[in-house]
Amino acid sequence: MTTHTLPNGRTYMSGFGNQFSTEAIPGALPEGRNSPQRAPHGLFAELLSGAAFTAPRAENRRTWMYRILPSAMHGAYRKIEQPAWESGPFGEVDTPANRFRWDPWPAPTLPTDFVDGTVTIAGNGSPEAQSGMTAHMYRANASMANRYLLNADGEMLIVPQLGRLTIRTELGVLDLAPGEVAVLPRGLHFAVDLDDGEASGYIAENYGAPFRLPELGPIGSNGLANHRDFLTPVAAYEDGQRNVKIVRKFLGKFWEGTQNHSPLNVVAWHGNLVPYKYDLARFMAIGTVSFDHPDPSIYTVLTSPSTVPGTANCDFVIFPPRWLVAEDTFRPPWFHRNLMSELMGLVYGVYDAKAEGFVPGGVSLHNCMMPHGPDAATFDKASSTELIPHKIANTLAFMFESSRVFKLTRSSLEAVNRQTGYDAVWDGFTASTL
Ligand SMILES: [Fe+2]
Repeated sequence: MTTHTLPNGRTYMSGFGNQFSTEAIPGALPEGRNSPQRAPHGLFAELLSGAAFTAPRAENRRTWMYRILPSAMHGAYRKIEQPAWESGPFGEVDTPANRFRWDPWPAPTLPTDFVDGTVTIAGNGSPEAQSGMTAHMYRANASMANRYLLNADGEMLIVPQLGRLTIRTELGVLDLAPGEVAVLPRGLHFAVDLDDGEASGYIAENYGAPFRLPELGPIGSNGLANHRDFLTPVAAYEDGQRNVKIVRKFLGKFWEGTQNHSPLNVVAWHGNLVPYKYDLARFMAIGTVSFDHPDPSIYTVLTSPSTVPGTANCDFVIFPPRWLVAEDTFRPPWFHRNLMSELMGLVYGVYDAKAEGFVPGGVSLHNCMMPHGPDAATFDKASSTELIPHKIANTLAFMFESSRVFKLTRSSLEAVNRQTGYDAVWDGFTASTL
């Protein structure tokens, strides 16, 4: 295994079997042993398993960390309240058989970090079942200077919408900007710093199987999101004694403990359970060159499979800038209702199925079998426009799509930013004259 370092200091190398290795100090990574009798420099070897030990090789994920102190060295945690960040099982309120849309959530006025600023929109499944997912928004104006999060409930896919983030993790640092996404494995310590003073974005908290690249089938060995564009951090550690707080999310509740050293004290590591980031501009979008639409699954970046083949616990799907060239085709998304439930967000620009009302930082939710599609203005325009090649530019919408129905939280149902008149979007169509 070899680690190649890019000019920006990040690695992007995957060795045989996607095993990564990196060390912040030369010689810190043991050679030929995972847990030698004495690790180099007196470091402590510690295993982080993201799969059952006996999971098939292709599914198995684990990383060996070599750290200044073991992460077990702390006292008891106490429960804290974090009411805005909710977890499954959901059901406090009935989820109406309606379509939903929200304007952006308001920015916080008091100092608020990434943990305190996370508010839950909707979700399904539960952490205990290790199945399902939850969609959140984060809105923060403070860095997590001396506070770290360990989420035992799920992997976190972070989709920034406003403001750059520096995510310090046990396995190194990820810089993240709108247009990029990051995935943080379940159980990893991390802290989120704000580079621009404020930040907001979307989170998919995935209780189920870890995200992976979708199969490509007849597309072949290239296309959609390519392996080489996923970046993992190099080892970086925080040394010295100082009192820090660690928040653990466990079974939907939050627990806090203190210790006298940073949990980000990993000097070297190797393995395949890693945080990573991906620039969505690297996504190779594929579409028709004749007529009609491929299904939107053609835009899948990452998928968390369920136990049912081809039926995702969560798909992360994007609608990036792309050319539309289809002949004799209604080019925006068609009218439809699906088994899968769709929660959409907009990072920037305009989404092509709606004339107005779906704005960056907003959310729409079209649950299982709820009819939706273009609004009347979009339908009229797309039905009569000349079908010359057209580029949808400067836009980035995305979808968290789940085979399980999204249940609303009380806060999202009662949110002042929920658009109560959303159904009127589908008013005004002219009946067929047969
Ligand atoms: Fe849809």
